[in-house]
Amino acid sequence: MAEFLPVASFDIVIFGGTGDLAQRKLLPALFHRWKDGQIPATSRIIGSARSALTRAEYVEFAAAACEKASSVAEWSGEAWAEFACLLDYQTLDATAENADWDGLREKLDTPNDIGIFYLATAPSLYVSIAKAIDQAGLISAGTRLVLEKPIGTDLKSAEKINEGVCAHFPEQQIYRIDHYLGKETVQNLMVLRFANTLFEPVWSRNTIDHVQITVAEDLGLEGRAGYYDRSGALRDMVQNHLLQLLCLTAMEAPASLDGDDVRTEKIKVLKALKRFDAPSAERLTVRGQYTAGLVNGTAVRGYLEELGPDASSDTETFVSIKAKIDNWRWSGVPFYLRTGKRMASRRSEIVIQFKDVPHSIFGRSSTQANQLVIRLQPDEGVRLFVQIKEPGPGGLRIKSQPLNLSYADTFAVRYPDAYERLLMDVVRGNLALFMRRDEVESAWRWVDSLIDAWAENGSSPEDYPAGSEGPLSSAVMMDRDGRSWWGS
Ligand code: BG6
Repeated sequence: MAEFLPVASFDIVIFGGTGDLAQRKLLPALFHRWKDGQIPATSRIIGSARSALTRAEYVEFAAAACEKASSVAEWSGEAWAEFACLLDYQTLDATAENADWDGLREKLDTPNDIGIFYLATAPSLYVSIAKAIDQAGLISAGTRLVLEKPIGTDLKSAEKINEGVCAHFPEQQIYRIDHYLGKETVQNLMVLRFANTLFEPVWSRNTIDHVQITVAEDLGLEGRAGYYDRSGALRDMVQNHLLQLLCLTAMEAPASLDGDDVRTEKIKVLKALKRFDAPSAERLTVRGQYTAGLVNGTAVRGYLEELGPDASSDTETFVSIKAKIDNWRWSGVPFYLRTGKRMASRRSEIVIQFKDVPHSIFGRSSTQANQLVIRLQPDEGVRLFVQIKEPGPGGLRIKSQPLNLSYADTFAVRYPDAYERLLMDVVRGNLALFMRRDEVESAWRWVDSLIDAWAENGSSPEDYPAGSEGPLSSAVMMDRDGRSWWGS
């Protein structure tokens, strides 16, 4: 049974309190933390949005959301009734010039020391809401502002948001969320690397041939066509989630787990990423867009059909990139990144491909190089492929077999959703798993070089059938290097 240390009492105001994120992630995450006894009963959870709802209506909305997000075993009517006492709702158009903040101020009249403003809204509203919170006199030393990704659509827009928000909140009070950092298995990456002596001596260009990072999804647009078509896979997934995974895989050991120590090491990796120009983007990246196909045995529509009748779009739903990190540890070791919608299956994994032994004494029975496969989701676990002798007489046969550490077999516990961990870290004031301003901007600098290079090349994404591993050119890019994607 996992143990949960209660956090201090807090107030949280969720702007966008009736939106998709609040419904699917934030309210259920808070409910689960309550159920496990982590949230004190003196805390308050206030949803806020433009819709004129009563408190009772909001409680009903939240109940439906939390029950939907819980398994039968996780749901408890009794726990819900207690949790509902923490809930409240405030109708407010937080960006309107003449918005009436008195209602919210009244609800927070005897505030807890820790006050969280969670902006689960469109990023274009971040600056005006931050300003309005300030003008309403609601910022104190214990206030935290939480921002969801995407912070901007390029470096310039990200800088504008950051500048605007930082005019009202000090950096140490801003929590920029990348929910991948809250995933158990992503945090385990740091433990695996820095709590074992085994890996550090082999974690470099001396022994590693290349690294692959795959975040494949079988889902399509899920009703987010408007957002996604302006964004695409590069902005939606690579700029944040994949680059965070790359940083955690490639960074040096931080001096401590303190927020700034970890983030400083990640930024060094981002700064060392080699930027693209038109010719290198042509050689080292592939863009794709799915057409109709079969995903897990079900026929699904292509991207353009999902967008609507007569739609045309050059937005990529798949991207693969051969990234280079120009520093001593990783010189000459490619990091292949790949992500896409409507791929064959949902899986996120990091594959560390070691080099071959320098000389094989086994003659004709060939050996394969070691691989460390870190499976982030689903079937979370770590497999280290080693060479062993296949038992039996009649020659020496060598096989590659995994030392297999499956999370499900090892830990019989419920997996908390990433938001549960992250929300509790916001309350605790632990910034380590949140992105610092310069981190977001460094990531954009590299991504912008690719956006510009693609624009200069003027090429369109290549088709790939839904339910496949992406466009053919992605496999060809690996093949040219004498390598292949893991599992293909
Ligand atoms: C989000 C992206 O940040 O991450 C979505 O906007 C994507 O497009 C999602 O589907 C993937 O998250 P997860 O946790 O399901 O892997």
